[in-house]
Amino acid sequence: METTPKPHGLANRSSNYGDRDFALYLRRSFAKSMGYSQAMLDKPVVGIADTGSDYNNCHRTAPELIEAVKRGVLAAGGLPLAFPTISICEPSLTPCSMHYRNLMALDTEAMLANQPMDAAVLVGGCDKTVPAQLMAAISAGTPSVMLVVGPMLAQSFAGERLSACTDCRRYWARYRAGEVSGERIKLLEGKLATTAGTCGVMGTASTMACIASTLGFMPLDAASAPAVHADRLRMAEEAGAQAVRLIRKPVSPLSLMTQGNLDNAVRVLLALGGSTNAVVHLAAIAGRAGLKLDLKRLDELSETTPVLVDLKPTGEGYMEDFHSAGGMQALLWEIRDLLDLDTLDLDGVTLRDRIGDGSHFVDRKIIRARETPVSPVGGLVTLYGSLAPDGAILKRSAATPALFETEARCLVFDGLEDLANRVDDPDLDVLATDILVLKNAGPRSPAGMPEAGYLPIPKKLARQGVKDMVRISDCRMSGTAFGTIVLHVAPEAAVGGPLALAQTGDRIRLSVKDRRIELLVAEDEMARRRAQWSPAPAPARGWDRLVHEQVTQAPQGADLAFLLPPAE
Ligand code: FES
Ligand code: MG
Repeated sequence: METTPKPHGLANRSSNYGDRDFALYLRRSFAKSMGYSQAMLDKPVVGIADTGSDYNNCHRTAPELIEAVKRGVLAAGGLPLAFPTISICEPSLTPCSMHYRNLMALDTEAMLANQPMDAAVLVGGCDKTVPAQLMAAISAGTPSVMLVVGPMLAQSFAGERLSACTDCRRYWARYRAGEVSGERIKLLEGKLATTAGTCGVMGTASTMACIASTLGFMPLDAASAPAVHADRLRMAEEAGAQAVRLIRKPVSPLSLMTQGNLDNAVRVLLALGGSTNAVVHLAAIAGRAGLKLDLKRLDELSETTPVLVDLKPTGEGYMEDFHSAGGMQALLWEIRDLLDLDTLDLDGVTLRDRIGDGSHFVDRKIIRARETPVSPVGGLVTLYGSLAPDGAILKRSAATPALFETEARCLVFDGLEDLANRVDDPDLDVLATDILVLKNAGPRSPAGMPEAGYLPIPKKLARQGVKDMVRISDCRMSGTAFGTIVLHVAPEAAVGGPLALAQTGDRIRLSVKDRRIELLVAEDEMARRRAQWSPAPAPARGWDRLVHEQVTQAPQGADLAFLLPPAE
């Protein structure tokens, strides 16, 4: 029996003019105006999500990568069609980039699901772009290859290497403490990010690239090859070819999202000493697949996963060192007994085969052996308690162990503006032993869950040489930051979580050992404060309004509730 071939290429996903044949005729005639031959227009189509933008320094190489993807698609027999989506560069948006991750996911999903294409290559890289694109691909169901732009190179300057924002923050902290002059800080401004590419440390972008490769959305070595390396262009060509293979043998993004693969991703995040932001992003990616990133599970996995990668912000090296040290293959080989090796990538290859024979190690200083880890346990812990009934996280690998068991009075800032107005006040009543608290900076707050969890040490203490204090908030911190910092407190203050009721002078107890974070205020007093609390008014319109109405809490990935798959 003859079956009608499934529409593909330009015939895929017809427009609706009430006459299907006419709709396709119209589409083809307009496509002809771009100068394609009939033979080209008959080919299967690979859509290429182009996130090049003059606002996105990290994605500066997007045009040449897309050219290379197109070569790969053409050589393999497909028609490549690039299309723009929103691009999000970390430092370029107000109130913060996180506020727009879901908008990018929504935009990308709509284009992936509704333009004529049979497979896609997603060109991303900067922090929010990779999670947004993976969330989009899973929801759209379009077979998709991830292609990250790759990390920037470190630059040698005055006897040290510098790259991106770990050094940026370190120098800024020293400038605040009066150790670095205004002239010097100005000079350094031009030395911190000196090539195209994403931040060259194990920040959020690098962590998400490593996770995307572990999940099977791109080859393992593509997670770390530098942005400006010629290999990166060859990887782009290969991404195009892989997308055409996916057309012949379609694999839905959803099918990669198994519980085993999610656990693998968490193990990798931990072994990397990766960014805390990846916890929120991974929860959101998992959520699109109907899976839950359980914070208790994260904590369990953290107890049995060593940190093996010695990169900034917690260690010494840069992404280019990780790449030359053997990269993801070497890391995964070292933790292979902790992984589900039967998980498949887009080509249907098992993780076991992707890792190969273990002959990847080059530099054991950067990717450690199990016997000599950077830390015998994972970088992240989950905290629960009266201040965070639904959880909070702490990156212990970036924290000061002497502060792990702390009980102290707290100094509360009501929001980012209050923090900015008061933190450097010479009359601020603050001691080095205090706990700093920032509220109203979670996903539903107007601040949009920025990377403000790295509260600055009050200037008067910084000048006395105080380098770290316990800091607690409902927002995030940069993957490139460090300190004893409790993040993602849930429920957040903006929805009336206990954090909303904390006041200056309250006592707080942090116990990393017991995984507790307690606000030591009597119940009747909390009830009294709760009766007086009221939420901030909703934004009047637009995207801010939609976020306010729909955004979920950090443990659910701070996604929009209406974008989640219906519960089974
Ligand atoms: Fe783009 Fe850091 S600013 S990755
Ligand atoms: Mg970052």
